[in-house]
Amino acid sequence: MWKVGTLLGLALLQSVAVSADYQIGIGRADCTGPAAEIIFMGYAKLSQVGCGLHLRQFSRAFIVDDGENRAVFVTVDSLTINHGVRRQVLKNLNSLYNDTYTEQNLIISGTHSHSTPGGYLMDLMLDIPCLGFVQETFDAYVNGITQSIVNAHENMVQGKIFLSTDTLLDANINRSPASYLYNPEEERAKYEYDTDKEIVQLKFVRSSDNQPIGVLHWYAVHATSMNNTNCLVSSDNVGLASIQFESLMNPGNLPGTGDFIGAFASSNLGDVSPNTKGPICIDTGEECDFVTSTCNGDAKNCIAFGPGDNMVESTEIIATKLFEKGKELFEQDGFEVSGPVKYIHQYVDMPTEKATITLDDGTEQEIQGCTPAMGYSFAGGTTDGPGEFDFAQGTITDNPFWDAVRDFLFPPTEEEIACHAPKPILLNTGGIDFPYPWQPSVVTTQILMFGEVVLLAVPGEFTTMSGRRLREAVQETIISNGGSENTKPILTGHSNVYTNYIATFEEYQLQRYEGGSTIFGPHTLNLYINRFKQMAAALMTNETLDPGPTPRDFSSQLITLVFPAASDGVAEGQNFGDCLQQPEAATVGDTVVVKFVSGSPRHDVMHGRTFLTVEKSTGDDWVVVATDANWETRLWWERTNSETGESEVTIEWDVGEGVEAGEYRIRHIGNYKGQDGDIYPYEGLSDTFTVS
Ligand SMILES: *[C@@H]1O[C@H](CO)[C@@H](O)[C@H](O)[C@H]1NC(C)=O
Ligand SMILES: *[C@@H]1O[C@H](CO)[C@@H](O)[C@H](O)[C@H]1NC(C)=O
Ligand SMILES: *[C@@H]1O[C@H](CO)[C@@H](O)[C@H](O)[C@H]1NC(C)=O
Repeated sequence: MWKVGTLLGLALLQSVAVSADYQIGIGRADCTGPAAEIIFMGYAKLSQVGCGLHLRQFSRAFIVDDGENRAVFVTVDSLTINHGVRRQVLKNLNSLYNDTYTEQNLIISGTHSHSTPGGYLMDLMLDIPCLGFVQETFDAYVNGITQSIVNAHENMVQGKIFLSTDTLLDANINRSPASYLYNPEEERAKYEYDTDKEIVQLKFVRSSDNQPIGVLHWYAVHATSMNNTNCLVSSDNVGLASIQFESLMNPGNLPGTGDFIGAFASSNLGDVSPNTKGPICIDTGEECDFVTSTCNGDAKNCIAFGPGDNMVESTEIIATKLFEKGKELFEQDGFEVSGPVKYIHQYVDMPTEKATITLDDGTEQEIQGCTPAMGYSFAGGTTDGPGEFDFAQGTITDNPFWDAVRDFLFPPTEEEIACHAPKPILLNTGGIDFPYPWQPSVVTTQILMFGEVVLLAVPGEFTTMSGRRLREAVQETIISNGGSENTKPILTGHSNVYTNYIATFEEYQLQRYEGGSTIFGPHTLNLYINRFKQMAAALMTNETLDPGPTPRDFSSQLITLVFPAASDGVAEGQNFGDCLQQPEAATVGDTVVVKFVSGSPRHDVMHGRTFLTVEKSTGDDWVVVATDANWETRLWWERTNSETGESEVTIEWDVGEGVEAGEYRIRHIGNYKGQDGDIYPYEGLSDTFTVS
């Protein structure tokens, strides 16, 4: 594209070469939520309450600017994002940088880890599983996301972007193959697999010294290697892959530090599981029913596992596959991205959204969205975590929040039933506005484009085939409007707002979990495709589109049953930070375990800091060799006496291959809440121990 004739002078050549570069800013920040006492969001399991920390959550921001326009993509180690989070991040950025960052040019995308604290999504149905809104989680994410963009903004350099793709097998499977088979045979015949196996990489290289400064990947896989029995905060498989890439490129740095930033972001993972051994009946060892994913009619016993022997091993295996493939791509030259930065954004009210589509037989059909509603199969959950809301298992009455609000569940009207058919409506969330909206009706649709790269920000979980159809439609539109033949649409999942799933019309007919959770009805996907085609065309022709209805801000109405953290206490004769269990001498392959008298880790998210350090003696000093952000360390917290407020932390450190022999010690850093309600810091230190 930017090649110039040999007759042109050197000066012109240089100026053309320079203008082909972008201004690039890359930033990372800690956005870890409260490490204890807050329920995780994803599996919506009340019992999955935070009990410590395995991997810190990070937000990673990538800014691309062509001198005229600027686009920002942020990927966050969290389940997803909602209007409220993005609105507050934009407010924060506005006070720093005026209107540089707006809803037009900023995508915030969740990685979809199911092992992260919830209660920040605001729409009632999405916060009920966490007993309502949790300000602490919301603030942790907003602050971390804002800081990552600030860090990127303050580090703009001239650079180039290289695009590479490859196939990564054995890292995902389709968890609803029966739904996938409902898609037309001719369409399925175009694809070798029933999930996307393509991994897409953007490599960011600084122009001044040709050094890579960052890397960003997309691969379609649920971040559900850690299952619903895990209570340690974790960024799961994709989060670990990011840490692995960053530690390769930032040798000698602790996780979350170092200039190089590596990320693995979410894509059309709706029906895609990392549990590659597939589902099995845990009671009988037999195969689950193919269509219903049940064992003798019970969803609870049909669970997917693998590739490892347990969830920790599986997380590491999937992460390592992603990382290794990313590294291979990174070593290639890649295709240099060039062309202008452009963006377009619209709010769309899905229940009133209409389109005319042409059916296979050539006839035209008018389609419209429905008010949000969840189908019965939503309650059955998935083989990655059965019984999402545990209705089937009858635990509805165990959740005081459900008790409090179930009487307000309005029955659907005739029109609503017809609109969602064949979905039987379990929760008519669109019919209730009490005490505030249950699910969003207004969604964001957004495209960011830099050169051939086209990011499609979608508000939820597109299934494999839904993603393929959307990408193809946008690609055709861009090319037919004079865009590059090399146009590369990338679907960025869980962007900006969460509206559950988006299955194809055909998949919807079977009403498995994904179809049952396609909240705007059977035509949801086609409405999105229609809208994204209009936006892509407008982007190419420089047309402005109606911005659409601004989503309602109900952040002042939020209710919660999550109580403030209790005060902490100690037993007679003890102090916070006292070491209750001293470490033993260890060797490679061992796990060192220490215990301390503690306060709740909930009092401070410790962004940019750590609840623990593993320190190695240098003779006259100590150096930190691991923190709570390391894969090799785990921080467990337990309230041992709820009357006196006593609690303890257990710190585990796996002594891995690379650990040098020497003298070590482990430090715990924490905070306790006094009887006066104030928060006080404390520290504890173990005895020295030997690693041989
Ligand atoms: C912020 O941006 C607006 C619109 O571009 C401009 O009118 C205003 O002067 C700017 N304010 C500051 C403080 O730069
Ligand atoms: C979670 O994984 C553990 C192994 O790490 C396994 O024992 C357990 O059955 C799994 N539970 C679910 C609900 O997937
Ligand atoms: C759109 O705007 C860009 C930049 O202002 C310009 O280069 C391009 O030719 C325009 N395209 C059309 C179709 O008008």
